[in-house]
Amino acid sequence: MTPNSDKPVISPVFAQALANVRYPGFDADIVSMDLVLEARLDGTRAVVRLRPLAAPPEVREQLENDIAGVISGLAGVSELELDVPEPPQPKKPAGPRPLEGVKAVVPVASGKGGVGKSTVAVNLALGLAQQGLKVGLLDLDLYGPSIPLMLGLQGAQPGDAENGKIAPVQAHGIKVLSIGFLVGAERALIWRGPILMKAVKQLLHEVAWAPLDVLVLDLPPGTGDIQITMTQEVPIAGAVVVTTPQDVALVDAIKAVDMFNHTNAPVLGIVENMSYFICPDCDSRHEIFGHGSVRPLAARLGVPFLGEIPLDKAVREAMDVGRPIVESNAASGQAYQELARQVAARLNLAPEVK
Ligand SMILES: Nc1ncnc2c1ncn2[C@@H]1O[C@H](COP(=O)(O)OP(=O)(O)OP(=O)(O)O)[C@@H](O)[C@H]1O
Ligand SMILES: [Mg+2]
Repeated sequence: MTPNSDKPVISPVFAQALANVRYPGFDADIVSMDLVLEARLDGTRAVVRLRPLAAPPEVREQLENDIAGVISGLAGVSELELDVPEPPQPKKPAGPRPLEGVKAVVPVASGKGGVGKSTVAVNLALGLAQQGLKVGLLDLDLYGPSIPLMLGLQGAQPGDAENGKIAPVQAHGIKVLSIGFLVGAERALIWRGPILMKAVKQLLHEVAWAPLDVLVLDLPPGTGDIQITMTQEVPIAGAVVVTTPQDVALVDAIKAVDMFNHTNAPVLGIVENMSYFICPDCDSRHEIFGHGSVRPLAARLGVPFLGEIPLDKAVREAMDVGRPIVESNAASGQAYQELARQVAARLNLAPEVK
C-alpha cells in the first residue's frame, strides 16, 4: 500500500491512542471522524498524517499538541513525524503577466477591417526602430496574417532560442513573428476558443522577445477573442487605435476605444489613416473622406490624437514589395515617422545611450 493513497494506513496501537484525540470543538475523535490517513511506527519514528484540514491555526495547533501528547506515550517511539496538511488552494486565474525584458506592449487596433492597422503596425514598428529603440512586431491576426508579405518575409522560418522558446525572425532591424511563418499566409485559420487563446498566449510568452523597448502587436479587426485574450495575457502600455475619417469607421473606433477602457488598458491615442489623398500625378492634396473628423472625436473620447496619415498609392506599393514606406522619405513615410515619434514620446521611451 502506498502511503500517498487515500486509503488510511493505521496500526491498531496507533488507532487506539489517536482515538483519545478529540477534534477541538466537537464531541468526536479524529479516528472515528476518518481524519487520519497514516499512523504507524517506522523504526522508532512515529509517522502520523491527517487528511488536508481547512482548520483555523489555533485548532490546528491544538490538534498537533494533542496528537504529540498521545503518541509520545507509546512504547518504542523516540521521534514523531506529524503532517497536518492544508487543503490545496484553488488556482487563481493567472491574470496579465509582464513579458520579462520587454518595456512596453503596444497593440494596434481598430473596430473595422481594412482601415490600415497592419500598415500602421509595420510602419510604426520600423519608425520606432529608426529612433534607435529595440522593437518587436507580433502579428496577432491569426485569421489573416499580413505581416510576412508586408515585410517581404514570405517563407521566413523562426528558429529555436536557447531557453526552449521560439526565436523571432530578425529583419529590417526588428524582431518579427507571425503565425504566417508557421502555417503559410494563404491558409485561412478557423481557430476558436481555447486553441486561439493558447496560440495568443504562446506567441506572447513563449517567444524570445527580450530585450525590447517596444513590442508592437498587429490585431485582427474588431473586439473578439484575440483582443480579449491579449488583454488578459499581458499588461498593455497603450493601444493605438486606427480609423479612417468616414463616419462608419468612426463608430467602430469608438467601440475599439471602449473595449480598451473596459479592460483597463490605456489608449495611447487615435490615428486618422487615409486622412487626405495625395495625387500621384500632381502631388497635390485632396480631402475625399472629410478629413478632420477624427481629432474632435478623440477629444470627445478623452484620448490623444496621434496624427494623420495620407492616402497615398506609394504606401500600398511599398508594402507590396516588402519595403514599408517609412523606410523612404516620401511625405507619407514622414507621416509614419512622426507617428512613431508621438508614440515613443507618450511611452516615455528614449533609446539607451551606448
Ligand atoms: N495610408 C494609406 N495609403 C494607401 N493605401 C493604404 C494606406 N493604409 C493602408 N493602405 C492599404 O489599404 C489596404 C488595407 O490596409 P491594411 O491591410 O493595413 O488594413 P488592416 O486594417 O490591417 O486590414 P485587416 O482588417 O484586413 O487586417 C492595404 O492594401 C494597404 O496597402
Ligand atoms: Mg491587418
